[in-house]
Amino acid sequence: MKEDQLLSFSLADFHYNDNPDVLQPPEDFKQWLSHSKVRSAFSFFEQQLLTAPKAKSRVRNNFDGKERDIINLTSYNYLGLSTHPEVIQACKETLDKYGMGASGAPLLSGTFDLHAELADKLAAFKEKEGCLLYSSGFGGNVGAIQGILRKGDIAIMDEKIHRSIVDGVTLSGAKMAFFPHNNMKGLEALLEKHQGKRKLVLVEGVYSMDGDLVKLPEVSALCESYNAGLFLDEAHSSLIFGEHGRGVGEHFGLEDKVGVSFGTLSKSFGGVGGFICSNQGLIDYLKGYSSPWNFSCAIAPPIVGGLLKALEVATRDSTLRDKLWQNTHYFRKGLEALNLNLGLAESQVIPIIIGSSGDMLLEMASQVQARGLFLQPVDYPAVPAHERRFRISVSSQLNKEEIDQALNIIEDVIAKGLGTVGK
Ligand SMILES: Cc1ncc(COP(=O)(O)O)c(C=O)c1O
Repeated sequence: MKEDQLLSFSLADFHYNDNPDVLQPPEDFKQWLSHSKVRSAFSFFEQQLLTAPKAKSRVRNNFDGKERDIINLTSYNYLGLSTHPEVIQACKETLDKYGMGASGAPLLSGTFDLHAELADKLAAFKEKEGCLLYSSGFGGNVGAIQGILRKGDIAIMDEKIHRSIVDGVTLSGAKMAFFPHNNMKGLEALLEKHQGKRKLVLVEGVYSMDGDLVKLPEVSALCESYNAGLFLDEAHSSLIFGEHGRGVGEHFGLEDKVGVSFGTLSKSFGGVGGFICSNQGLIDYLKGYSSPWNFSCAIAPPIVGGLLKALEVATRDSTLRDKLWQNTHYFRKGLEALNLNLGLAESQVIPIIIGSSGDMLLEMASQVQARGLFLQPVDYPAVPAHERRFRISVSSQLNKEEIDQALNIIEDVIAKGLGTVGK
């Protein structure tokens, strides 16, 4: 195959596999993956962290094999809870008492008193009747949706919805319908088209690649008018949005309109796992039909101990949340002064959209990382080909000097490279 043709491919092109040996990838995938340019693009994946995901971490960069102390703009440890001293102490204490693993699925032998306490506290926090814990956020979305929807039902999703939700719908056998991102006319047209069917609308509180918010007032009003259920993924908004940190539902004052509130325990909570909060009837029903809950090991007890403490620390006052918002506003102001394209971001997730050049994206990525900024490129097909970008995850752990240093590097490499400075 000619080089030009080979390099026009992306991961979007190899899903269908025609290799007669089912245990081998397609031949053209192997050729593509071994090309030096593709290998260099992949070198940004799976770079090894050598220390905790704090504001400053140590990374082994794949692109040149060097170890560097970096400012971390890539971690989801938004509130620093993964590395909070009280959380670490709680993990140690639960490790000593309960051992490493839960050693069983929740239904038969994997529910410890700690799991029940965490589920109760999360339900109370989200002001819902009940809560179901999952051992991963991805598994929680897949498991909840697969347990709720059936063949013949309609799942109506924002086109930017997370993969775990799409996979859950696939497994359920329900029909999929996508509306353009945050486009209420598109949503209404689908609700209208599927009148008379059982319908679930699935949206995210904060969209993970763009950092913008769902238009919850409009979405919930439409769900009510067309008798559709509402499933809200608060992966990037729990503990961050709303006066008490309950999420985007609280931010809009519409928690009672949300039928299922999903959260992950791996981002602002700093651990691992997922949960849904909903009415008790649905929670009881899902215990019989949500496979990733009843056929998969429960969250490891030391993590549950840490999560209980993380919830307490994050909700006893607003210190961490306030610091995150202070950092977000300061960072954003600095980026705006550089005239960078931040898309529609209105949260701690801030993209810097650089356009269609994949080569430029990767060149800039190696330059910022060589200067000690852990800022990862996001390439097509994860985002549209004309909207390749960097994505900043702001953390409460960053101090002003670190943000200023990050802005300096972004100015030198990205803003000057794109010619936006002084425009
Ligand atoms: C919107 C959204 N939902 C669900 C998940 C899955 O969560 P986890 O990584 O905890 O499995 C993610 C993770 O990136 C996400 O961004």
